[in-house]
Amino acid sequence: KSLTRYNTFGIKAKARFFCEVHSIKDLREVLRMEQYPKKFILGGGSNMLLTKDIDALVLYINMKGKEVVSQNETHVFLKVMAGENWHELVLWTMEQDYGGLENMSLIPGNTGTAPIQNIGAYGVELKDSFVGCDAMKLDTREIYTFTKEDCQFGYRDSFFKNEGKGKYIVTSVTFKLTKKNHQLNTSYGDIETQLQKNAVKEATIQEVSKAVIAIRQSKLPDPSVLGNSGSFFKNPVVDKEVFKNFTGAHPDAPYYKVSDDLYKIPAGWLIEKCGFKGKRFGDAGVHKHQALVLVNYGNATGTEILHLAQRIMKSVEEKFGIIITPEVNIID
Ligand code: EPU
Repeated sequence: KSLTRYNTFGIKAKARFFCEVHSIKDLREVLRMEQYPKKFILGGGSNMLLTKDIDALVLYINMKGKEVVSQNETHVFLKVMAGENWHELVLWTMEQDYGGLENMSLIPGNTGTAPIQNIGAYGVELKDSFVGCDAMKLDTREIYTFTKEDCQFGYRDSFFKNEGKGKYIVTSVTFKLTKKNHQLNTSYGDIETQLQKNAVKEATIQEVSKAVIAIRQSKLPDPSVLGNSGSFFKNPVVDKEVFKNFTGAHPDAPYYKVSDDLYKIPAGWLIEKCGFKGKRFGDAGVHKHQALVLVNYGNATGTEILHLAQRIMKSVEEKFGIIITPEVNIID
C-alpha cells in the first residue's frame, strides 16, 4: 500500500502490509497476529521521514473520540483518543471555550503522537495542559496509564523517545483545560503584533488561536500543498561557555535563555546564515520563509531529503561549531 498520503512529507514509500486500527480491541487483536512479526506504528505521519519502503505490518492508529471525564467550576478534564487530528481538537476546544491549547493551533499530526515529542509552539508546550496518557505495551498488550512525571517531558522530548521508544502505542491523552480565567500567553514572538494587525482590542483564547494560525500560515508551508514535517531540526541548546563565544562572534544572533547556564539558539537562523534558506536541490529544498523546515517539491525521495539535512548539519557545524540534530524521526 502506498504511504504517500500517510506522511506529511509526501514521500512515495510503500508498506508491505497495512491495517487501520479503530479501537483498542482492534489494536490488541492485530498485535497478537504472529504471522506479521514486524510491526510499524503510524500516527499522523507528521514527524517522520521515510527513506525506504516499510517491510512490516503498518498499524495506522485511528481511534476516534473525546470525552469530558470530569469538571469543576474552573477546569475540565478531557480525554482524547489517539487518532483525533490535533488541529481539529484545538478548534473544537476553542468552540467550547476551553483554554490551554490555543498557542498550539495548526500543528500537523494526531493527538496520540503529540506527547511523544511534547509538541510546542509560541511559548506553550503540550506538557503544560497534559494530565496523563494511556498507552498499550506492544509485548504484553496491556494498557498502562502514564502520569505527567512518568512521561519525563523535555524540549521536544519524552520517555517515549528514550527508554520507552518502540515499546508503547499511546491510545489516549488526557488534558486539563481552563473553563474560565484563561491564562493567555501572548508574549512569544509575533503574537502581539498579529493581534494588533487583527484589530483585537481584548485578547481571548479564540483570538490567540486565530493569530497563531495567521503567523503559521505566513511562515510555514501547508503540507497538503508542499510536503514537509514542520521544523526538521531542534533548536540547539548550548552552555554558557559556548554561548559566550557564539554571541561574541555573532552579536546580532537571536537566542532564548533557557536557564542560568543554558541558551537556545534558533537553528533557522544558523541555517539561513549558511546560505540554505530558499535553496532547492532537485525536489528537496529549504523553505523560503523558514529555514528550519525542509520541503518536498513533489518527487524527492526520503534519502534526498536526508542528504540535504546532513549537508546542512555539516555546514552549520563547520561555520558555527554548533551541532544541530533532527527533530524528525528518520525511518531507515
Ligand atoms: N530565524 C531566522 N531565519 C529563519 C528562521 C528563523 O533568522 O529562516 C530566526 C527568527 O528571526 C527568529 C528565530 O529564528 O528570531 C526564531 O524563529 P521562529 O519564531 O520562527 O521559531 P523557531 O525557533 O524557528 C520554534 C519551533 C516551531 C514553532 C516556533 C514558534 C522548534 C524546533 N521549532 O521554531 O515548531 O512553531 O518555534 O513557537 O522548536 C515544529 O516543531 O515543527 C515547529 C514548527
